Amino acid sequence: MADTTTHVLEHLAECGPIDSLTLAVKLGTDHQRIVGAVKSLQSLGNVITAEQRSSKQWELTKEGEEVVEKGSHEALVYYNVPEEGISQKELMQTIPNAKVGFSKAMSAGWLMVDKTAEGGPKIRRKVDKIHDDVQECLLKFKNMNIDDIIESQKQDFKKRKLLQEVTVKSYWLEKGPQFSLTVEKQETDLTPEMIATGSWKEKKFKPYNFDALGVPLECGHLHPLMKVKTEVRQIFLEMGFTEMATNNYVESSFWNFDTLFVPQKHPARDMQDTFYLSDPVHANEFPLEYLERVETVHSVGGYGSQGYNYEWKFEETKKNVMRTHTTAVSARMLYRLAQQKKFIPVKYFSIDKVFRNENLDATHLAEFHQVEGVVADYGLTLGNLMGLFKEFFNKLGIRNLRFKPTYNPYTEPSMEIFSYHEGLKKWVEVGNSGMFRPEMLLPMGLPKDVAVLAWGLSLERPTMIKYGIDNIRELVGHKVNLKWFIVTLYAD
Ligand code: PHE
Repeated sequence: MADTTTHVLEHLAECGPIDSLTLAVKLGTDHQRIVGAVKSLQSLGNVITAEQRSSKQWELTKEGEEVVEKGSHEALVYYNVPEEGISQKELMQTIPNAKVGFSKAMSAGWLMVDKTAEGGPKIRRKVDKIHDDVQECLLKFKNMNIDDIIESQKQDFKKRKLLQEVTVKSYWLEKGPQFSLTVEKQETDLTPEMIATGSWKEKKFKPYNFDALGVPLECGHLHPLMKVKTEVRQIFLEMGFTEMATNNYVESSFWNFDTLFVPQKHPARDMQDTFYLSDPVHANEFPLEYLERVETVHSVGGYGSQGYNYEWKFEETKKNVMRTHTTAVSARMLYRLAQQKKFIPVKYFSIDKVFRNENLDATHLAEFHQVEGVVADYGLTLGNLMGLFKEFFNKLGIRNLRFKPTYNPYTEPSMEIFSYHEGLKKWVEVGNSGMFRPEMLLPMGLPKDVAVLAWGLSLERPTMIKYGIDNIRELVGHKVNLKWFIVTLYAD
């Protein structure tokens, strides 16, 4: 390319402005090479000016090329006629395009038909020697003596499909205001050596091309937890669930515990298990009538329940906590649902962070994600809950399920869900669930025969299984393996 660049510059210096196509012919080089040289000269600034043009140009067709190589159709037909003559039928079979060739050879006066010949008419040569003008003409054309072919001849060749006219793009080249015969190679990189030796001061740098496509970038992307979260959200949406807003990490003990019929002395409410807030210590907005009903059901019972029979304290319910489960969100949503004039069945879900004052180990973190599901409708049973799990876990790729009775203050009956883990070769707990107790639902104001199925699971567990991570601490913070997130993107 460097060579071509020099040739272009030298030619402009010696012969003045020229079209790039003509220059390609003169230099005996491919036009594309000239175009490449022009582009690199343009990038240097004003060394040359190059104005793009489009023009019509004649070129040989494939058939035209064949004529140049082997001779015109008429000449070939002529040479195929033997001394003693040949029947027209036979002659037609000697070469392709014999028909065209024959009629051209006849009108050129090269052949004749001998009607008196024995065994029927024969074609004979009429002249001893011929001159193949067509071939000569096209050969000249090929050697770029275009001007030697007169216009009518070009049209004739066009009709015979030996020549065709095509539009070609070229450049009109002239010296630019900063024309020079020697162009300095522009640097594309600023190297440490250039900086160290100070040679960058003398160098010329190629201007930055903001239109160029960037190199493929390796950059960070979705965290595995967020990927699984997206997948789980999709499953819920497919099953017709609506997402609950989970934007308050801080909850009052009221919504986190009391509304869920968790007694105020329950161990889960200990400081060892729950993070209490020091500022603000208390929440101050409560639906008071409902709060009173909650107090009653805890302390003396109601709705057919004996309650816990203890002294319920407002002081305790006011305490702010980092929510220990997203079931607090479900409680808020169910209370809101109960305030509507007419009960409408609902299916809710959420996936968000919860906080527990845990001792950290390979399977426990102080903050993790909970997946929560709630279904409220008339006449639901535990069978419906089991059916929901089958569908839900099946979509997650977890098929082998077992249920085990358990205890939650807010559900009765309650079930832990286990799945057989092929890798670990044992049954692992994948969720906790149950039917919300009347002590939780009736104070809210939900109709008596409405049942609410609910379940919760961690997002981290399926993520660890899926990504083969055996220490939960590798999922967060500085221990995260950045390679998990790498996705190759093309920068625009
Ligand atoms: N809140 C429970 C937990 O944190 C999960 C659960 C939700 C259980 C709903 C039953 C019903 O483990």
